[in-house]
Order: sequence, then C-alpha cells, then structure tokens
Amino acid sequence: MRTLGFETTTGEVIAGQDLTGRVALVTGASAGLGVETARTLAGAGATVYLLARDRGRLDAALDTLRAENLPGKLESALLDLADLDQVREAAAGLLRTCPKIDILINNAGVMACPLGRTAQGFEMQLGTNHVGHFLLTCLLLPALKAAGSPQRAARVVNLSSAGHSFAAMDFEDPNYRQRPYDKWQSYGQSKTANVLFSLALDARVAASHVRAFAVHPGAISTELGRHLDQEDMERIAAAFPGGKMSFKSVPQGAATSVWAATAPELEGKGGLYLEDCQIAQPAADGVIGGVHPWALDEEAAERLWQLSQEWVGQEFAA
Ligand SMILES: NC(=O)c1ccc[n+]([C@@H]2O[C@H](COP(=O)([O-])OP(=O)(O)OC[C@H]3O[C@@H](n4cnc5c(N)ncnc54)[C@H](OP(=O)(O)O)[C@@H]3O)[C@@H](O)[C@H]2O)c1
Repeated sequence: MRTLGFETTTGEVIAGQDLTGRVALVTGASAGLGVETARTLAGAGATVYLLARDRGRLDAALDTLRAENLPGKLESALLDLADLDQVREAAAGLLRTCPKIDILINNAGVMACPLGRTAQGFEMQLGTNHVGHFLLTCLLLPALKAAGSPQRAARVVNLSSAGHSFAAMDFEDPNYRQRPYDKWQSYGQSKTANVLFSLALDARVAASHVRAFAVHPGAISTELGRHLDQEDMERIAAAFPGGKMSFKSVPQGAATSVWAATAPELEGKGGLYLEDCQIAQPAADGVIGGVHPWALDEEAAERLWQLSQEWVGQEFAA
C-alpha cells in the first residue's frame, strides 16, 4: 500500500495508471494547477479538454503541453464561468464532441478579488467558483452518467480550499446585496459552496455511477494570489504555526486533484473532502487543515442545490 501525503506529487499519484480511452475535462486550464492537472492526465493517456476563458492564455497552455508530446490527445474549448450563457454554449459544444466524460475537474477559481459581479449579477467569487461550475456540471451530467459504470464511476472533482474555514454559506445574503463586502468571507463562502455542492451532487448521482469529491490542494504559489497585497500575505501566514506558511510545489498541489480523479482506492466512495491525497479529518481547534462542519452539513447542501437551480433557472433530475 503506497503512503501518500503532503509532499506527494502528481507523478507519484499517477504512476502505474493507464487512462487511455478516458476523457477528462479541466476548467481553469490556462494557469497554475489546471495546467499541471491536464498535463498529468494526458501524460497517462487520457484525452484532455483544457477549458479556459481567455483564448490567448488557453492557446499558450496548449502549446506548452503539446510541445511535451504527451501520449494523450489535447483539445480545448472556451469557457467563461462568469457568464451562464457562455457556460451553456460551452457545455452544448462539449456534449456534441464528448458523449462520454469520465473525469470533470472543476478547478478554475478566483480569490479575494474586489467586489465584482458576473454577467448575471452574482457576486464574482460565488458566481465563478460555484454557480458557473454548478451549471456546467449539471449540464454535462448525461455524458458523465454515460461514462460511469458499476466497475468504474465517472468522477467530478471540485477544487475547494482550506479557505472554506473563513465562512459558511450565508443563505440570507449570499451575493452581498445588503451586507458589506469582505473579500475573504466571500472566498470562504464560495469554497464552502464547493464542498456542499460535492455532497449534494454525490448524493444525487452516486446511483448513476458518478461520484463527486471536494479537494483542498494546499498552499501553492500561483496566479491565484493576483489580488493579494502584503497585508493579506501576512494575515494568511499568521494563521500557520510559527507564522510561516508551508507551500507546496505545483506538482504537489495538483496531486490531490489527480488522486481524487483517478485513485482506485476511492472507487465506491464519494461526497468527501480530500487534502494531501487523503480523506480529510474533521477540523480541530489550533490545527491547520481538516474540514469544518458547516461544509459537511447535508441540509445546507440541499438548500444550496435548490438555490443554485433557482439561480441558473433550471432543474436537474438525479
Ligand atoms: N494555489 C493555492 O494555494 C490554492 C489553495 C487552495 C485552493 N486553490 C484552488 O485551486 C484552484 C486552482 O487555483 P490556482 O492556484 O491554479 O489558480 P490560478 O493560477 O489563478 O488559476 C486559476 C484558473 O482559473 C481560471 N479562471 C478564473 N476565472 C475564470 C472564469 N470566469 N472562467 C473560466 N476560468 C476562470 C483562470 O483563468 P485566467 O488564466 O484567464 O485567469 C486560471 O486558468 C482554484 O479553485 C483555487 O481556489 C488554490
């Protein structure tokens, strides 16, 4: 039995796995963890669709990976999660080309940005990190169900964060219409939403052989920090023992996503929050990491599912 943990890399997770014939989609594949996740899956033979909102940045990522002569096929499609019309358009195109989707990695994200609104008026972090991914995933369910089998379920991986510790869902004012905007509370709420969505989705579709997981990748130096200033960095560091953050490399950071998407030991499981290539423990006082109870609250998960359906104006049957 292999021992996986904080330092495990994508290469170690994927070693010995052959993904030939499988189709994987990765959102936010123009930077950071998304590119490494796509690289690893294509490196094991999967056909990988890189999805991102900016054609130039997407093409640059695609060129980088194509130059590596990976065994898997690389495709791409534009997807702007901050515009539900675009999400619908992207999903329709993907369903036309991918009748079966084995792996969907909802990796794209924004963190601690100034108050902004998506095309349909959702607060930017909740709208991008949760609402756009909710709609994309639900629209792609027919292809995920078509790929899943009793022997091997299709998997949906939602990138959450230890930042879910900053906030539970505020069902009274999720989009900051009345309360003052706080960029960290908002990030925390959106990352709690990613876990709740994983729970509700898994409960609905496990019987159709589609399983969902939430992942905290670790702290990795990527472009995610583009909105942070020195004060933010000091506040984050202060939360770590001795005031020093323990960073992961990008291959270490993407390892838990790849583990969630492919690990044979997770077959038959779902609705779990994972970190360091392990099923996370409940968060404990004074310890960094773990999953907080508000993110595993089944009632909140159901309430968010219903609200998300209202937001996107569509109901999704199990
Ligand atoms: N890095 C960390 O320490 C860390 C810690 C905990 C959780 N996470 C989570 O891990 C995930 C990946 O983060 P990362 O570190 O790789 O960040 P990153 O380097 O900033 O990459 C984020 C990706 O998301 C894309 N994106 C942003 N808004 C989008 C939108 N509206 N539509 C489509 N794509 C959009 C970005 O596209 P552009 O290239 O166009 O900007 C980029 O491809 C995120 O969900 C993040 O919350 C990261």
